[in-house]
Amino acid sequence: MALPSETVYGLGANAEEPAAVSRIFEVTGRPPSHPPIVHIGGTEHLDDWVQDVPGTARLLAEHFWPGPLTLVLRRVLAFPLEATGGLETVAVRVPDHRVALALLSAFGGGVTASSANRFGSLSPTTADHVRAELGDGVDFVLDGGSCEVGVESTIVAATGDTPTILRPGGVTREDLETVLGCPLAVPSTSRVRVPGRHPSHYAPHARVVLVEPEKVVAEAERAQERGHQVGVFLPPSFTGAPVKAHAVVTVPGSVAAYARGLYGLLRELDLRGCDLIVASLPVEEGLALAIANRLRRAAGPRPCE
Ligand code: TXA
Ligand code: MG
Repeated sequence: MALPSETVYGLGANAEEPAAVSRIFEVTGRPPSHPPIVHIGGTEHLDDWVQDVPGTARLLAEHFWPGPLTLVLRRVLAFPLEATGGLETVAVRVPDHRVALALLSAFGGGVTASSANRFGSLSPTTADHVRAELGDGVDFVLDGGSCEVGVESTIVAATGDTPTILRPGGVTREDLETVLGCPLAVPSTSRVRVPGRHPSHYAPHARVVLVEPEKVVAEAERAQERGHQVGVFLPPSFTGAPVKAHAVVTVPGSVAAYARGLYGLLRELDLRGCDLIVASLPVEEGLALAIANRLRRAAGPRPCE
């Protein structure tokens, strides 16, 4: 079943039932190398799933749970290996959503859940998006409204004494650093052009091209003239003449609103028939680090290229 969370909707199954967990891989088409996250109802359940939890990880859990933070820790031996993609570690989080917490509390166990989308495509932030992504592949969708955060949780590898960020997300690097009292490593980033080594992920059907903010309009109009159906992510400060493109959305000025709307806006441009989306990266601080990460990944080379 699909369930809401504060970040994106998840496709969930009883974490202790390997057959149910393998359905998640089947329905979403994800490879075993991308195991889902175990969702638990509270920090008090952490030790049911993981062992050798360092003090830094407990500190983060106490501080940010329930919330958009996932901790990767050493799994307890009883946890089915199939559910972790054969890894000795497991990713765990406590979602900050009334409906998800009620479900977890009524169920009592852990719910392993991936984002409720086909592998590589946009994460759903409404129940309708889940239906559009997975159709009959999902038995039912628990509708908890639109997701408040809009981008996935921040994943932190926390097995050692020095945590590292594996995926930027809803909890900012700055907030993590404040709690830990030390700087954190983040995945390598690049300038605007996307390096070839990252295949696309979090991607709409339309191709995504990233340029400097002041070049968005010119790039979009040039591509439209060449015959593309261009969707434009206009920077919030733009005040010029109407843009000659197929579909134009203005990026929200507040970073929280941008994160909340990001996947919905990309989906909208797909629905409006765009085959190319021109956007720029926001300044990578706070929540915008996650937005930029998703846009870069969306612009990565497609599997068939
Ligand atoms: O906000 C979220 O995290 C959402 C909601 C539904 O909770 N979930 C989500 O799940 O984004 P998913 O499956 O789309 O992304 C989970 C990521 C995958 O990229 C997977 O590779 C990584 O977590 N992951 C899972 N277990 C891991 C582990 N043991 N070590 C490193 N990465 C892991
Ligand atoms: Mg996902």
